Amino acid sequence: MSNLFKIAVFISGTGSNLKSIIEKQPQYPYQVSLVVSNNENAKGLAIAKSHNIPTYVFKWDRNDSYLSKVHNQIKQADCQLIVLAGFMKILPKGFIDSFQNQIINIHPSLLPKYPGLHTHQRVLDKGDKFHGTTVHYVNTELDAGKIIAQSKIKIKKDDNKDTLAARLLFREHSLFPYTIYLIAQNRVKWRENELYFDQKILTQPIEMNE
Ligand code: GAR
Repeated sequence: MSNLFKIAVFISGTGSNLKSIIEKQPQYPYQVSLVVSNNENAKGLAIAKSHNIPTYVFKWDRNDSYLSKVHNQIKQADCQLIVLAGFMKILPKGFIDSFQNQIINIHPSLLPKYPGLHTHQRVLDKGDKFHGTTVHYVNTELDAGKIIAQSKIKIKKDDNKDTLAARLLFREHSLFPYTIYLIAQNRVKWRENELYFDQKILTQPIEMNE
């Protein structure tokens, strides 16, 4: 069995972040061991299959009856981190509690600004000068867990929500694999409820602006 740091990636749709995470595997010491989706038509499932990565599709329901099955799949695949990459459901508290500090998400805004949906349009409506993307740990509040890393872009005069989304997605494709790499290397880690980066308590997001 390989010693690589194993991750499960959760998706709901296109899966372009999943693709970038998979494609960075040769250069980063992690392994996508499982892809989970609440949507059997998610395009990202085909990306996983084309790389021979096991997939698991579950049906979302209000009683959370899928939870123990998803939980078992992750344990069986021996995953140490759950990566939400365009996963558009809010995970229930029981699930989050059972993987404490082991779930990360990417969100298309400079959190704590603009949690929730339609971030690109909201940034434009406010007339902000900058936009960005954030990788953060997941807790039981929406988009409010500890921030790990961010990538920032300057908003141009002629930007609209689609141009912003495209430029930001391009940044996500570097930021997310890099952040997973830092966790896999133990360079980002939790100790006694504090998050450390390279042995120092993380007080500001790690920035990756290229
Ligand atoms: C990404 O932009 C991600 O930040 C966003 O969905 C997109 C998924 O794209 N996530 C959220 O809005 C979560 N609240 P992808 O399926 O091509 O990776």
